Amino acid sequence: MTQHHLAIVADAPGGPEVLQTAQVPTPEPGPGQLLIKVAAAGVNFIETYERTGIYNVPFPFTPGAEASGTITAVGEGVVDFAVGQRVATAEGRATYAEYALLDAHTALPVPDGVSDEAAAALPLQGMTAHYLINSTYRVAPGQTVLTHAGAGGVGLLLIQLLKERGARVLTTVSSPEKAALARAAGADEVLSYDGVAEAVRELTDGTGVDVVYDGVGKDTFEGSLASLRTRGMLVLFGGASGQVPPFDLQRLNAGGSLFVTRPKLRDYLLNATERRWRSGELFAAVAAGTLDVRIGARYPLAEAATAHADLQARKTTGKLLLIP
Ligand SMILES: NC(=O)c1ccc[n+]([C@@H]2O[C@H](COP(=O)([O-])OP(=O)(O)OC[C@H]3O[C@@H](n4cnc5c(N)ncnc54)[C@H](OP(=O)(O)O)[C@@H]3O)[C@@H](O)[C@H]2O)c1
Repeated sequence: MTQHHLAIVADAPGGPEVLQTAQVPTPEPGPGQLLIKVAAAGVNFIETYERTGIYNVPFPFTPGAEASGTITAVGEGVVDFAVGQRVATAEGRATYAEYALLDAHTALPVPDGVSDEAAAALPLQGMTAHYLINSTYRVAPGQTVLTHAGAGGVGLLLIQLLKERGARVLTTVSSPEKAALARAAGADEVLSYDGVAEAVRELTDGTGVDVVYDGVGKDTFEGSLASLRTRGMLVLFGGASGQVPPFDLQRLNAGGSLFVTRPKLRDYLLNATERRWRSGELFAAVAAGTLDVRIGARYPLAEAATAHADLQARKTTGKLLLIP
């Protein structure tokens, strides 16, 4: 008899309410795949873009790219993993569920000393923070950086990694509670979104920052450009406030020979070496206690809709987890 398990399924694009629970058949792992029993699934902003149809996904749709769990079955040809082993991933599919299939090459072994929750919380936002500061723009000690949404999932990790690097970190947040969290993570200056470019000029003797990491998008894009030093780089990595509309390249000329890039995690996990480098450094830092992964909220799997609503309403801090 086919086994079934609980999963979140959206039948059509829409608001958070389209995220409903359903019993779905538990799949067998195919060649090169693993089946895991999900311990915790990470909620990420991208899943709100997928749910609403901003990013194209096939419906019915089960969201989720991130999870930690224990392997319950391995497919043909898998030699690096065994049943019973703890793994995590940032590149899964349909992880808002009690069981999920992974391609074995995307599975990250979870070291002792890293909890299931930290292992679910770190891969996607952590490897994003890692590639942003190491590979998209290699931040050097002493440089000044502006990063938006400093109390968010990516934001809190970015601040800590940037301080570890020896950078000066300016960040934006929307409330005093979020400001306190960003400061505790190490931010040197916590700003409000209004008048950010003017505040940045004041704090940098009129020079501007070397790089801006902007995951807020539509509402912050202009202020981010206006905060850069001559030849500075704007790294636009998301659109929590909406997507940035097409813009005039002459703006880069006028701003002082600026650079803009729009990266995504998949392009910075091109092979096993990149995956191992990024996840290895992050898990080691967590196990050593030098990187704090703040779990801002845990929701029962069935309350995925509430998690999405809270994330989009800017009510959350740090990482959101779904617990099956
Ligand atoms: N390109 C990539 O590889 C990649 C990978 C991971 C994540 N991302 C992007 O990184 C960004 C952050 O992701 P996350 O999962 O860590 O989320 P998050 O930062 O925890 O949540 C988004 C935050 O954005 C801020 N925000 C500002 N304006 C907003 C608005 N109008 N609506 C909602 N939020 C607004 C809020 O903080 P305040 O209340 O403090 O303003 C909110 O808490 C997202 O844009 C996501 O798509 C990109």
